[in-house]
Amino acid sequence: MTLATESAVPATTDGFPVLGMDAVVFAVGNARQAAHFYTTAFGFSVVAYAGPETGQRDEATYVMTSGTARFVIRGPVRSGTDLAKHVAAHGDGVSDLAIAVPDVPRAYAYALAHGATGLQAPTEVTDEHGTVVVAAIAAYGDTRHSLVDRSRYTGPYLPGYIAGTTGARSATTASGERLVAAVDHCVCNVELGRMDEWVDFYHRVMGFTNMAEFIGDDIATDYSALMSKVVADGSRLVKFPLNEPAVAKKKSQIDEFLEFYDGPGVQHIALATDDIVATVQAMREAGVQFLETPDSYYDDPELRERIGQVRVPVEVLKQHRILVDRDEEGYLLQIFTRPVQDRPTVFFELIERHGSSGFGKGNFKALFQAIEREQELRGNL
Ligand code: FE2
Repeated sequence: MTLATESAVPATTDGFPVLGMDAVVFAVGNARQAAHFYTTAFGFSVVAYAGPETGQRDEATYVMTSGTARFVIRGPVRSGTDLAKHVAAHGDGVSDLAIAVPDVPRAYAYALAHGATGLQAPTEVTDEHGTVVVAAIAAYGDTRHSLVDRSRYTGPYLPGYIAGTTGARSATTASGERLVAAVDHCVCNVELGRMDEWVDFYHRVMGFTNMAEFIGDDIATDYSALMSKVVADGSRLVKFPLNEPAVAKKKSQIDEFLEFYDGPGVQHIALATDDIVATVQAMREAGVQFLETPDSYYDDPELRERIGQVRVPVEVLKQHRILVDRDEEGYLLQIFTRPVQDRPTVFFELIERHGSSGFGKGNFKALFQAIEREQELRGNL
């Protein structure tokens, strides 16, 4: 895609108002099985479906929700389609970070006027439940941002979808609570030297601004490194950290992603949880694998000094391998899964925030060391 370097229309924060994330759309090889995984291991519930049985000839699509988070799982049922090509090139991954906006034609026009590439002009789709307006613009690699207004729609997802469930039981915590409350942020990996280009893209095209968190050379281990900046809309409802690899002695985890995803794309989705300990426990029992943070992280006397008082005792954090970080606003608890498909690409984060609007900068070094051990096992370090 092309990125305009200059635009006649000045970027403003109110030219592109957003309401939040509409959906994270996954392109996968087997949507039926992926939907089962996100039901039984992540606690999502299938709420809508479209496929060959409903007249959608080329793919099966499962729409799943948990709290305000919506996942859309698309699987091709024949070769040769754009969806099938996406899966063939990238493996299971995220094809679309869909954003809810109050006025799709206006947002689309603003985006194109500021250099975005249009993939779908604003389109109204209607059935007996009402009308949804959808458009789409290109993002990094083969990823897109759909722009969605469903304010005049009461159906389960979009026209053409039927309400329904697969019948599988959604995982809960031991006390029966939901695991996932919302999508917190969505992180992308782009090529070396292109992070600032994409930061500028979100500034120009969506009027996003930088959040304070910035990862530079100071957060590099001897072996692995990345640079990271975070862009977000004015109300901080949509948050996109952007990573690029930094030059290091050994292969960066971002380079590994770019190689195995075959280009830039979504690296991880962070899911907000009300009780990270209970959620991790339930997900582990369902077979989800998390990164193993070393004992040394918890035994380090500097950790207790750095984090102060948090709601979970350090011994419990250690037992579950949950990370903790604090800034001037408060603290957060977080943990990262291993990649959830065969390729070492997309993974998830669970995050429980207590005042902090950061992303765990203080944990990057400890996290890198854990990731590197995994890379080494795969022979990719
Ligand atoms: Fe994250």
